[in-house]
Amino acid sequence: MQEANRLKRLPLYLFTIIDELKRRARERGVDVIDFGMGSPDKPAPAHVIEKLCQAAHVTENHRYSRADGDVEKRLRQAIAKWYHKKFNVVLDPNTEVLPLIGSKEGIAHLSLAYLNNDDIALVPSPAYPVHFNGVIMAGGILVNVPMTPENGFLPQLENIPKEVVKMAKLIFLSYPHNPTGAVCDIKFFEHVVQWATGKDIIVAHDLTYSDIVFDGYKAPSFLQVKGAREIGIEFHTLSKSYNMAGWRIGFVVGNAQILKTLSKTKSYVDFGIFRAVQEAATAALEGPQDFVDDMVKLYKERRDALVDGLNSIGWKTEKPKATFYVWTRIPAKYSALTALEFATLMVDEIGVAVAPGTGFGEYGEGWVRFALVEPTDRIKIAIGKIKKLLEEQA
Ligand SMILES: Cc1ncc(COP(=O)(O)O)c(C=O)c1O
Repeated sequence: MQEANRLKRLPLYLFTIIDELKRRARERGVDVIDFGMGSPDKPAPAHVIEKLCQAAHVTENHRYSRADGDVEKRLRQAIAKWYHKKFNVVLDPNTEVLPLIGSKEGIAHLSLAYLNNDDIALVPSPAYPVHFNGVIMAGGILVNVPMTPENGFLPQLENIPKEVVKMAKLIFLSYPHNPTGAVCDIKFFEHVVQWATGKDIIVAHDLTYSDIVFDGYKAPSFLQVKGAREIGIEFHTLSKSYNMAGWRIGFVVGNAQILKTLSKTKSYVDFGIFRAVQEAATAALEGPQDFVDDMVKLYKERRDALVDGLNSIGWKTEKPKATFYVWTRIPAKYSALTALEFATLMVDEIGVAVAPGTGFGEYGEGWVRFALVEPTDRIKIAIGKIKKLLEEQA
């Protein structure tokens, strides 16, 4: 049975390969230190788990979710309030807020909602995979916009050829950025709005990591810029700020027309979010936020342990100002290897798993990503193992 061409066009999912290597290493009895996936290792806040349990006992919550239900309305209001408090952005909870079954779902469906076969989507590379995979699945034309450390991993919009811009209908952006940990300031967003206005290009900004910031950096919202709401939307999620990755709840805010079209697309394929999860999400957004500060402290400690550790053994690596990722070039000694070959060697030789940069697109070649989802003591053990590997090969 032949799968559809759109599936054949998708790049190899490199995590599957790394997962298989991890599985084999574990079978050999290796205790794999896993920096591969960005899946938080700590639980959601206790009061949020408690709310989920209570809400799961309510019979009405077991029915299909409906946009005009009370639970649904309360969640949209909580999202709007949270946005106002955090970013001073005022949103209409009924038209400018759309909850999602995780932001990944919404990002994929956005491409499906807008791209015809001759429409281009501009995706900075490297990127979080659904930004480009969603375009391919929808049958649109994917154009990678290269990002380099020299430009602070910001796309150079002026360098995109005019003919490409003319055919472009969508651009995906995401700061703080996965996988590079790069950040931007509000001036960059002002430039984006200026560039996109009048071009009929939807700007989809993914703000997943706005809470995971260090060293005094504050992540702006794209919607803080005047005119942004006319051309764009912003995705967010509870997966990272509240350790609710497996719960599948995120949201998108901004341009009401775009949200209506996205909602229409979704109405043909899903029935919304389990209402008990919506109630718990409302509790997370409205409840005490010191949980988030504690998580940031923990990630900072891990970031410092990893980056200081890598630098101390000669693997030159920069500290990111945000996200729980560390993006670093393959050590010079191994520069003849591809990112996948190097990541494979790490698992096979020392039982340390990282994500190969090419899992995030072609411009990720030569790099690997560490996700800070292992405790500090295990990070230190990993540094010891990496040190041995680097010395062995000297
Ligand atoms: C940039 C970015 N966007 C979206 C997501 C997906 O988040 P969710 O769990 O809400 O689908 C992730 C998850 O790692 C991410 O890194």
